[in-house]
Amino acid sequence: MVMLTLGILGSGAGSNMQAILDAITGGTLSARIGIVLCDNPEALILERARRQGIRAEVIDCAGHRMKFTEEAQQETARKLNEAGVDMVCLAGFMRLVKRPLLDAFPDRILNIHPSLLPAFPGLEAWRQAVEAGVSESGVTVHLVDAGMDTGQILGQEKVMVFADDTPETLHSRLQVAEHRLYPETIARYASRLNL
Ligand code: GAR
Repeated sequence: MVMLTLGILGSGAGSNMQAILDAITGGTLSARIGIVLCDNPEALILERARRQGIRAEVIDCAGHRMKFTEEAQQETARKLNEAGVDMVCLAGFMRLVKRPLLDAFPDRILNIHPSLLPAFPGLEAWRQAVEAGVSESGVTVHLVDAGMDTGQILGQEKVMVFADDTPETLHSRLQVAEHRLYPETIARYASRLNL
């Protein structure tokens, strides 16, 4: 049987990568993770992936703090293709994906974002929600396009914001929702594409 192969791009702790892997192991997501790529050599996601036998490599961003250079995107696309990736999942990846990577995986790049988009795009959406004083936020899985958190929404889950929430307490509850929503949405989208 041909199996859906996922490529994961992350920059941080990798808890969403772990949730995807747990869904695979638990049998609710029929897939394998072919490769994990990360722009930060110190990030826990790399160690986490390697410990579980997954190929995990660093993306060389040539010293740029935020920019995802064209060369780095080309190299990323090459590695994803080499690993046989059908679908790319951004999981806490902190650089904006543009062409040529978007062109290499049209409508096949997903992102998890910690707000109910279109509200609070960009960085630290949990802090934006607390500072705005909203009583409800949530998490979104969407397709990645050339904008910032603007692609087609594939799934959302609401999370209440409490009066005594700090950015950190809200973020940890948002993450619980992310870990449910992301694997479930990947499975649904893959079956929609017959992958
Ligand atoms: C997640 O909460 C994810 O939604 C967020 O980074 C965290 C990564 O955690 N992503 C963004 O803010 C993207 N704009 P993880 O490394 O433990 O999965």
